[in-house]
Amino acid sequence: MRVLLAGGAGYIGTHTAVSLLDAGHDVVLLDDLSGTHAVAAERVETITGRAAPLVVGNAADDAVVTAAFDEHGPFDAIIHFAAFKAVGESTQKPLEYYANNLDSTFALLRVGLERGIRSFVFSSTGTVYADPDDLPFTEESTTSVDLSNPYSKSKRMNEVILADVARVNPELNVTVLRYFNPVGAHRSGLIGEDPAGIPNNLMPFVSRVAIGSLERVGIFGDDYDTPDGTGLRDYIHVVDLADGHVAALQKAQPGYAVYNLGTGVPVSVLELVAAFEEAVGRELPKQVLARRPGDVAATYCDPGKARRELGWSTRLGIDDACRDYWHWQQSNPSGYAGA
Ligand code: UD1
Repeated sequence: MRVLLAGGAGYIGTHTAVSLLDAGHDVVLLDDLSGTHAVAAERVETITGRAAPLVVGNAADDAVVTAAFDEHGPFDAIIHFAAFKAVGESTQKPLEYYANNLDSTFALLRVGLERGIRSFVFSSTGTVYADPDDLPFTEESTTSVDLSNPYSKSKRMNEVILADVARVNPELNVTVLRYFNPVGAHRSGLIGEDPAGIPNNLMPFVSRVAIGSLERVGIFGDDYDTPDGTGLRDYIHVVDLADGHVAALQKAQPGYAVYNLGTGVPVSVLELVAAFEEAVGRELPKQVLARRPGDVAATYCDPGKARRELGWSTRLGIDDACRDYWHWQQSNPSGYAGA
């Protein structure tokens, strides 16, 4: 298959490009480089020994998408990773988030349908589930558009739109993948997560403490109703997550389908920090802080549907993720900017 990866130079996009290339597919990356660097695409080529052409431009612009098809098409499939994803920022910049995260879908679908793509895969999130007590989340768990922040709302809005588009395009395979918490990096240490500024998410924050650019890990609350009092999440190694996209494309059927991509194993904040300390080989400074507003005590999924229907399941655990993230961090202390 020949696949256009919108947002393909980002964290999940680059890992998926590697998985697709390793599985014998061809890829073209479309990315405006607003959250990543061109060197990320070069690293995909270094890892795989195969071409991963990069088209620099915004996936929300029909002319850009059309040019990508003209120059590198035809494509069998589009995977849409291109989105703004900072939850806190989304509450401050709702218009920017809705515009970017929806316009990209519109442009990719308009051009893709006109050019005869067979499959469209969308990066969604486990935060679309509305009832925090309905654990583990299955694809049948209640969702809502009325979520706590514009980022999550924009993801659920996309899902609703895609279901309508699938209904009137019966030949099209539309697959929505709801990611839980992606962590880790490629084993080579050549590609990984490269957040700008102070990271919001736990593993990148811990890793910055380990490399010495942040002082101590803040643990957002130890009084939740969980076994050790800290939040529980379903951390999925980004390479497993990437492989989920390959499985989804290979098994895609006409119509609209939704899959959770997670491990199904809840891991606490303290467990993740301990696993990272083990990978680093020393204890890290840490401090319990107040709960972060908007956080839930626990979220994890039942990944059974993806296992049954896509033949996919995770192979890597939290220890692998910490080892690989730390390898990436040590090899690239200032991320791609230092390359
Ligand atoms: C966050 C986003 C979610 C997004 C996901 C991507 C929020 C509210 N949610 O999920 O929409 O899909 O990232 O991975 O931002 N924690 C600390 N100290 C830190 C950072 C986090 O204790 O410095 C704790 C949090 O309270 C939570 C856990 O670590 O219990 C994971 O946090 P994080 O990595 O930010 O992910 P989520 O909040 O689950």
